[in-house]
Amino acid sequence: MSNLLLTNIHQLINVRKHPVLLRGQALKELPVLNNAWVQIINGRIADYGTMDICPDATEVYDLKGASVLPCWCDSHTHVVFAASREDEFVDKLKGLSYAEIAAKGGGILNSASKLALTTEEVLYEQAKKRIFEWMALGTGAIEIKSGYGLSFDAELKMLRVIRRLKESLPIPVKATFLGAHTYPALFKEDHESYIDLIINDLLPAIDQEQLADYIDVFCEEGFFTPEETVRICEAGKQYGLKAKIHANQLHLSGGVQAGISVNAVSVDHLETMNEETISLLASSDTIGTLLPTAAYFLRMPFQPARALIDAGAAIALASDCNPGSSPSGNMNTVVSMSCIQMKMLPEEAINAATLNGAFAMGLEKELGSITVGKRANLIITRPIPSIAYIPYAFGSNLIDKVLVNGREVTS
Ligand code: NIG
Ligand code: FE
Repeated sequence: MSNLLLTNIHQLINVRKHPVLLRGQALKELPVLNNAWVQIINGRIADYGTMDICPDATEVYDLKGASVLPCWCDSHTHVVFAASREDEFVDKLKGLSYAEIAAKGGGILNSASKLALTTEEVLYEQAKKRIFEWMALGTGAIEIKSGYGLSFDAELKMLRVIRRLKESLPIPVKATFLGAHTYPALFKEDHESYIDLIINDLLPAIDQEQLADYIDVFCEEGFFTPEETVRICEAGKQYGLKAKIHANQLHLSGGVQAGISVNAVSVDHLETMNEETISLLASSDTIGTLLPTAAYFLRMPFQPARALIDAGAAIALASDCNPGSSPSGNMNTVVSMSCIQMKMLPEEAINAATLNGAFAMGLEKELGSITVGKRANLIITRPIPSIAYIPYAFGSNLIDKVLVNGREVTS
């Protein structure tokens, strides 16, 4: 039995006996224990308290005034990909639009043609390396999408890579089937046949190997319509896959309405919102997952976090790590950016990137708060004066150590 005690914690952040999904004003409340200890037995949080009454343990680690918070829960990534796309980045700097780059064979189709030529082994090794980099920066759970396969074989190949990551990584991994990311060239003029491939070939094969936890569709003008989105999500539901969809990134795409109508766990992106979609989302059970680094990288308007929170929505924050629109899985940047650019309060941002992120992956019983019985996936900070310092000092690495299942991450 391993028994580790972290002592002299300046602030133990996000301490909750009964964690619930946080919406609206509740996002502001970030419960903290000052001058605290936390005990970790066999990789799980066993107890916590204040330093006036401190238990014994076989191993004691004196944090000397550092703070501790639950690891980031990154609920939206595309971290399995074959190659970076910095050439497109430079094209964009020279003035080409997203659409022009796509027309040149760039974008999602560029990633798909590279992925088709890359083996499962190489994809696995590359993704693992990336994820360890993000783990050392505090990520303690991750969702990963397919969607750079876009053929029967390549979608399954991607999902098998994600399964291997799930089996081998020390953090929880959730797999999302995003066959409906874009129409592959072969089906450019025949959308019905591609939807047929997704629904009648891919979904049964994915089910047989139990390769996915969620289903996703890029509901966007020029990609999948709201009607197609609903059809694909309903088909996924037949196999027990709940929806987490790409909605309202570039236009008022109908994605929010489509997501709510299929009872999606989350609708993600939300750069383009109006009063109607904000109030619809706020009065639904669906989480709005905001991806500020994607808005930043594409120079889109940032997501209307304040309006969503004020309307009472449940908000999560995620990195969208992918080679085209957010080549970063650094959740510390996501948290800072959500405060700086979207005016989220530090407490709201930390809640959205921890507990609500865990809810957006169905991992709320395992992660996202300092709660007895949850995994000890914890960020140990360098000494920081206050919670607000975390998003404020956006250029500094404030992380001293990251524990996963109570053990230090070494990359
Ligand atoms: O979430 N918007 C759709 N998919 C990705 C970008 C994909 C890409 O450009 O490779 C996103 O931003
Ligand atoms: Fe995405």
